[in-house]
Amino acid sequence: MSSIRLDRFLSDMTSYSRSDIKKYIRSGDVTVNDFPVYDPSVKINTEADAVSFKNCEIKYNKYLYFMLNKPKGVVSATRDDLHRTCLDLLSDGDRRKDLFPAGRLDIDTEGLLLITNDGPLSHNLLSPSHHVDKTYLALIQGFVDENMAYDFATGFKIDDEFTTLPSKLRILSHEDQFTEVSVTIHEGRFHQIKRMFGAFDMKVLSLKRISMGALELDPDLKPGEYRRLTADEVTSLKEV
Ligand code: URA
Repeated sequence: MSSIRLDRFLSDMTSYSRSDIKKYIRSGDVTVNDFPVYDPSVKINTEADAVSFKNCEIKYNKYLYFMLNKPKGVVSATRDDLHRTCLDLLSDGDRRKDLFPAGRLDIDTEGLLLITNDGPLSHNLLSPSHHVDKTYLALIQGFVDENMAYDFATGFKIDDEFTTLPSKLRILSHEDQFTEVSVTIHEGRFHQIKRMFGAFDMKVLSLKRISMGALELDPDLKPGEYRRLTADEVTSLKEV
C-alpha cells in the first residue's frame, strides 16, 4: 500500500501549488470516498481511496506519458516568454507541474513529442549510449541522390565539428529540384537533420518526426492534438 498526504496527492496530480490545494481542501472542494475532508494532512491510500476535487475523481499515477503531435510555432520547453509551449497544449486536467518534453524539436518542426514526468525513462531514451532511432520525414530543397544516401549510411563530417553516426536516408519522391525523404538517425544533436543536409548545401523546407524508438506517431492525431500512451506503448519504450 502506498500512503500519501491529501494535499500532496492533489498537488502532485494537478497544476495547483500545495498552498492553493490546502485552501481548496479547507473550503470543502475535496471529498475522500464521497465524504468531504477539510484536513490537508489526512493520509490517502493511493490504490484504495477515491479522491474527488471539484466533483472530478482524480487517480494517482506516479508517471504520465502523452504523445503530442507538435505543431509548428510551438516550442518544446516547459516555459517560454514569447511562444506557446508544448505543455500549453495539454488540457487543465492533464497539465501536471512535473511534466516535460522528452527531447526537443525545433520550433518549425512538427510531429511526435513524448511528454512525461518519468525522468529515468527520458534519460534512457535520450542518452547517447542507447541510440534510440528517430525517424523524420523531410522536404528538401535540392536533388537528393543515392550518393548522399551512401554518405548518410557511412557517416560524414559536419562543420569540422563532428562525424555523424551511420544513418538511413530513403528517397521517397523527386519533383523538380525538391526531394521528399525519410531519415532515421541514432543521435540527436542540435538541428541535426538541418545540419546534415546543410553539409550538402541543401535546405530542409519542412520536417516532421514520425517515430522515436518503438513509439510511432498516431496518424489520427492532428497537429496540436495529443493522447495518453497505451500500456503497450509504455512497455515497448521501457524495453530500450
Ligand atoms: N533535426 C533538426 O534539425 N530539427 C529538429 O527539430 C529535429 C532534428
